[in-house]
Amino acid sequence: MLATDAGESRLKTDSNEFYCDVIHGLMQTPKRLPSKYFYDKKGDSLFEAIMMSPDYYLTTCEMEIFTRQANEIVGFLTGPDTAFELIELGPGNCAKSVHLLGALLAAKASFNYVPIDISENVIRELACFLPAAFPDLQCDGLVGDYFDTMAFRGLIPGKRKVVMCLGGNIGNMTIADANRFCSTLRGFLQPGDQCIIGFDLVKNPAVIKRAYDDGEGLTRQFNLNLLERMNRELAADFRVDHFDHYCSYDPLTGSAKSYLVCLREMVVHLPGASIPFEKDECIWTEISQKYTKSQVRQMAIDNGFTPTAEFLDTRSWFMDTIWTAV
Ligand code: AVJ
Repeated sequence: MLATDAGESRLKTDSNEFYCDVIHGLMQTPKRLPSKYFYDKKGDSLFEAIMMSPDYYLTTCEMEIFTRQANEIVGFLTGPDTAFELIELGPGNCAKSVHLLGALLAAKASFNYVPIDISENVIRELACFLPAAFPDLQCDGLVGDYFDTMAFRGLIPGKRKVVMCLGGNIGNMTIADANRFCSTLRGFLQPGDQCIIGFDLVKNPAVIKRAYDDGEGLTRQFNLNLLERMNRELAADFRVDHFDHYCSYDPLTGSAKSYLVCLREMVVHLPGASIPFEKDECIWTEISQKYTKSQVRQMAIDNGFTPTAEFLDTRSWFMDTIWTAV
């Protein structure tokens, strides 16, 4: 009920917010667009294909952590049998967290699960799938922006919280924004509450570069879909065939960045705006930040947490970390 109401009111403002963000980003020098707009229906399905592509290692790594180490993770969460709320920010199809949910239920942990996602589709599908998979699971999904929704719902006082943010979602923030995110998150928590966050780790730069420039060209399509989406939803007239995908990875900063390169001089029109492009001008569309383990530990400390446990895949390419609020 609540989920649907929030979803509907959001849908009405969506295209206006999209339009404003696009105009704002394309008027800047250098031009940029927020990566959150990749995920329309076509973008969601391209991202699912990317996650299965052999060049994109992140999902496989984190999946390995959750399939093999769910019981160890549970060991750090179940305190002296206190009930807790397990809040997941951006659960997607829940493929990783189901392993944790299963392990928690098997351990007879007393908890309720609150997935929060900006996509109404995601929450609707979970509401269908989870009760069938886990009849004993107490679950209520919410549609909306992470922190607005947490504030709006008024987290149950006195109940311990565990907040999950998996999939390297935090990777789509700059390091400064990731720190702001962690500090805002800490503001919602009490000492002893926990979070589980997924970080993609620095590794051979060639492996990282390949993940964002895969051999099947899926990431290329994913990036170009942003132009198609502006044409579809905002009545823009991007000539998609005159743009290309470019990605770079800088091992000195750990930042993988994606761009759309405009291959010839042109003017693109949107209702109420004309945007000139020079030949070879780039739109910055995404950052995927990689971290060292010590950067992750420092981020915990700098934002009011202590690093409590770290779980890595066999290649040590990805890390899910548990932090406890101090
Ligand atoms: C969903 C943020 C984890 O940055 O690796 C995949 C998104 N972009 N390929 C990432 C993405 C291009 C992905 N995250």
